[in-house]
Amino acid sequence: MSKDTITLTDNTTGKQIELPILRGTKGAPTVDVRSLYKELGYFTYDPGFMSTASCRSAITFIDGAKGILMYRGYPIEVLAEHSNYLEVCFLLLNGELPTREELNEFTSIIQDHTMLHEALQNFYNGFRHDAHPMAIMVGIVGALSAFYQDSTDVHDARHREISAFRMIAKMPTIAAWSYKYSMGQPFVYPKANLSYTENFLHMMFAVPTEEYTPNPLFVKALDLILTLHADHEQNASTSTVRLTGSSEANPFAAVAAGIASLWGPAHGGANEAVIRMLEEITATGDIQPFIDRAKDRDDSFRLMGFGHRVYKNYDPRAKLIREICHQLVNELGTEKMPLLSTAMELEKVATEDEYFIQRKLYPNVDFYSGIILSAMGIPMNMFTVIFALARTVGWISHWNEMMQDPESRIGRPRQLYVGKDTRDYIPIDQR
Ligand code: CMC
Repeated sequence: MSKDTITLTDNTTGKQIELPILRGTKGAPTVDVRSLYKELGYFTYDPGFMSTASCRSAITFIDGAKGILMYRGYPIEVLAEHSNYLEVCFLLLNGELPTREELNEFTSIIQDHTMLHEALQNFYNGFRHDAHPMAIMVGIVGALSAFYQDSTDVHDARHREISAFRMIAKMPTIAAWSYKYSMGQPFVYPKANLSYTENFLHMMFAVPTEEYTPNPLFVKALDLILTLHADHEQNASTSTVRLTGSSEANPFAAVAAGIASLWGPAHGGANEAVIRMLEEITATGDIQPFIDRAKDRDDSFRLMGFGHRVYKNYDPRAKLIREICHQLVNELGTEKMPLLSTAMELEKVATEDEYFIQRKLYPNVDFYSGIILSAMGIPMNMFTVIFALARTVGWISHWNEMMQDPESRIGRPRQLYVGKDTRDYIPIDQR
């Protein structure tokens, strides 16, 4: 057996094949199984993709055992301290940090694209007043493809670039307007003199009757939350965007599919579920019954904001969010963040409990983020919308990478069929 292959023996037939081992810059070596079906006639079985690399990617690296997350080679802690969301967007899209000039140009392009076509307001008005903002977002982003038909040639690099700019620029407007619609307040137009994050807060909270200036600490905290959520390699929503895009569907449709996937409580919807759980615990004043329920195999209840498919250590994003939580509580006072002490106590009890230790279950990114968003006055049903806003750049970067990868094919998994074998049709009056 050569060093960079793995030998597979079919014990039924005695036939052997050598499968190449691919080695990336970092991370687990990967067995290339593409020839397996052709050579031996077997599929691989891996529900939930526990051991499957679906693509090559140079965007984000995670070491789940060590709790490491890097965008384009830069550790998340370094970006959180020195960078900001828009610079991170440039980095994710282009692979390198921008020069001052490049960042100025990128910022001005994004500012130029923040407005929505006026006709899109008709789409908002078609929703029920109490529609979930994620439902609105899926609909509006999907509808964008009907407005930008000039840029949906997925094989044209310029079309892909302009679609990326449009989506990154318009997502705060789309998100803020879904909130405004649910509140029955007038839509607030984007302002080019505000930073990306200030602009979002302005469109969320400004009303025509008053001046609105966002609290600088809120801007800092929200910008950090956006930065930490910008990408996370091949998670469910990113894989959905890739799978949708692999059929050469337009990028607006692919991102709308990603938003739909993110909505689930096992993924981006967890931040909303965390707050509901913390409110319930705070109301009862007793953590232990919730811990006991989470450990009970016969109870479907899980500690929301705990555990992760990849991190088997403290999620580095949760650490950074917990730090900014403390800065906020110092400035705002505990009464503005009533759930923080429950969250910290819950974390302590859970991380000292054998069940959670054995299974390597730690707080994930969603555990503390909702507490910050609540302190800013952002309602719970907007949390996942903000996650979607932040993740848009990650989705687009992955879609773009896939479109340029010569090894990309339409995503088409196979299956292990366990249904009926061929049978005879029985006429209805004989059944
Ligand atoms: N509370 C209690 N037990 C848990 C939890 C939890 N939050 N998470 C996992 N477990 C247990 C699970 O019951 C299983 O136990 P056993 O081995 O005895 O059957 C073991 O830990 C492994 O769990 P799993 O379901 O096989 O792990 P997974 O990788 O399939 O699921 C997860 C990962 C994130 C879906 C899961 O940990 C979970 O449901 N967490 C709560 C929801 C949540 O916070 N989601 C946000 C994820 S981070 C942000 C994002 O991705 O969008």
